[in-house]
Amino acid sequence: MRILSGVQPSGELHLGNYFGAIQQHLELQTQGEALYFIADFHALTTVQDAAKLRELVRDVAATYLALGLDPTQATFFRQSDVPEVHELTWMLECVTGMGELERATSYKDKVANGITPSVGLFTYPALMASDILIYRSNLVPVGKDQVQHVEICRDMAGRFNHAFSTDVLIKPESRLSKTPKVPGTDGQKMSKSYGNTIPIFASGKKLKKAINAIVTDSKDPSKEPLDPDTCNAFAIFELFADEAEREGMATRYREDRTLPGYGTIKQRIRELMDEKFGPARERKAELLKPGSELDDVLEAGGKKARAIARETLDICREATGLTDPRGYRA
Ligand code: ADP
Ligand code: TRP
Repeated sequence: MRILSGVQPSGELHLGNYFGAIQQHLELQTQGEALYFIADFHALTTVQDAAKLRELVRDVAATYLALGLDPTQATFFRQSDVPEVHELTWMLECVTGMGELERATSYKDKVANGITPSVGLFTYPALMASDILIYRSNLVPVGKDQVQHVEICRDMAGRFNHAFSTDVLIKPESRLSKTPKVPGTDGQKMSKSYGNTIPIFASGKKLKKAINAIVTDSKDPSKEPLDPDTCNAFAIFELFADEAEREGMATRYREDRTLPGYGTIKQRIRELMDEKFGPARERKAELLKPGSELDDVLEAGGKKARAIARETLDICREATGLTDPRGYRA
């Protein structure tokens, strides 16, 4: 079974990325042939500053390695080390109607949130489909917002195979974690594009500020019960807390009229984050130093991934008639 996923280097990775995607990526790296990549071509839709992009790519790489990605188990690479994906993207775009991309909700959401609708942002799902199909991936662990893109990918694979009488492209399945849509500090989906994130590796004052930004209601716990089921801070707390602690806090919300307010749960989120991510935070700082293994890992991963992509692309070229079966043009 081939497992594949990507994450954009478009900002610091956050709790939504961790609980929606990264945790699954780490779990699955021993359960099949895993390929994970840093989607730098995709990030050009929003990051248009060379130094910033380079810094963000290293930041994502260090984050994954610090959290436990094992490059001897999973192939870890930069998307742009495999330029072949663009050739397959074009082939897929030629079997796709405008309507399908016009219905993509992620595109519509991004535009509604003020991102300039470039042609690249519009055709983004075709590049993502190519990322998945070029490695003939079976399973794509992602957050809920990406499920529609995997559906579009399946449709494209079906149409390509049908149009060119081939079975080279494999329809993948998406895979969700238990928490496929982590809320941000404002209650909508946590996202780098929405300025509502809690970064995985924030610490000290920065962490305090991010957590204090979690929007809560103005109920006074000395007068009325709080509601864990609709509370944004509770939703973030329960990502970390074990069952007993979760139940304990839910009971305090409902029954403890001496609870000092939402400060208590916010303080606890800070402690839980320090416990969970503290050691990895230190590893990340080491990995970001010049001369660490980070660049070699990405380079070696890129070579491995590119060889797989080349094989698929050659079959697609033949199937479409761009290359003849003996590998040269008529
Ligand atoms: P962002 O929306 O912050 O730019 P990406 O689009 O790079 O994040 O997402 C990387 C991975 O993390 C994807 O699999 C995506 O579905 C997942 N993800 C992002 N935000 C969330 C969230 N709030 N909850 C669950 N999963 C998420
Ligand atoms: N679109 C994904 C996101 O924004 C990132 C991505 C690019 C991806 N190509 C992919 C995810 C292929 C899974 C498979 O999160």
